[in-house]
Amino acid sequence: MGKIEEVEYIINNKKVTIRNGRVQDAEKLINLIKKVGKETDFLLKNPDEFNPTVKEEEKFIQSQIDSEVDLLIVAETDGEIIGICGLNGNMNKKIRHSAEFGLAIEQESCGMGIGKKLMKAGIQWGKENGISRITLKVDTNNYRAISLYLKLGFEIEGTLRNDKMLVDGSYISGYTMALLL
Ligand SMILES: CC(C)(COP(=O)(O)OP(=O)(O)OC[C@H]1O[C@@H](n2cnc3c(N)ncnc32)[C@H](O)[C@@H]1OP(=O)(O)O)[C@@H](O)C(=O)NCCC(=O)NCCS
Repeated sequence: MGKIEEVEYIINNKKVTIRNGRVQDAEKLINLIKKVGKETDFLLKNPDEFNPTVKEEEKFIQSQIDSEVDLLIVAETDGEIIGICGLNGNMNKKIRHSAEFGLAIEQESCGMGIGKKLMKAGIQWGKENGISRITLKVDTNNYRAISLYLKLGFEIEGTLRNDKMLVDGSYISGYTMALLL
């Protein structure tokens, strides 16, 4: 389980592959998440809080590959990983039908439809694997992400007031969103 079929697209004259994450991707995935963490405040961790070793990341990727309820997929171009998408599921029977999305695309590859393609692949996998509710959390000022999620059919279920505190001490509220499949 936890696998999609690899698909290739041509975007801006470049081949972009959407595929399952592999253990060999560990170092590139660490670098991508650190990079996106520096480019935006929208990820959960500050860049200095995300410091896994390559071995730890390899173990994490392997656990996602082995999992019945999780999915880890990436977007790759020219041998570089430019986007990552995770669906985090649950083993408990009462919430076995539910999974949470996480998504990050490097800045220079944003706005090209890669986020949408990754999410569509994740939603399709969810449909085929007994997921009937997909949730996510998004900052209320993350307009690009909110626009993408609404286009894919997600609805806002609630507001998480003062959900995050940024390094400057200011609060950011969040929305909790869900898509029923
Ligand atoms: C949010 C994010 C995942 C979106 O991925 P993306 O690849 O840039 O999005 P896409 O190009 O697939 O765009 C999909 C939709 O978003 C909207 N969109 C794209 N760029 C936009 C912009 N600059 N402003 C507002 N909406 C925008 C459009 O509605 C677009 O739909 P369309 O192609 O039908 O017009 C990506 O920007 C990202 O990783 N940002 C930083 C980290 C982050 O915010 N992660 C999500 C945390 S919840």
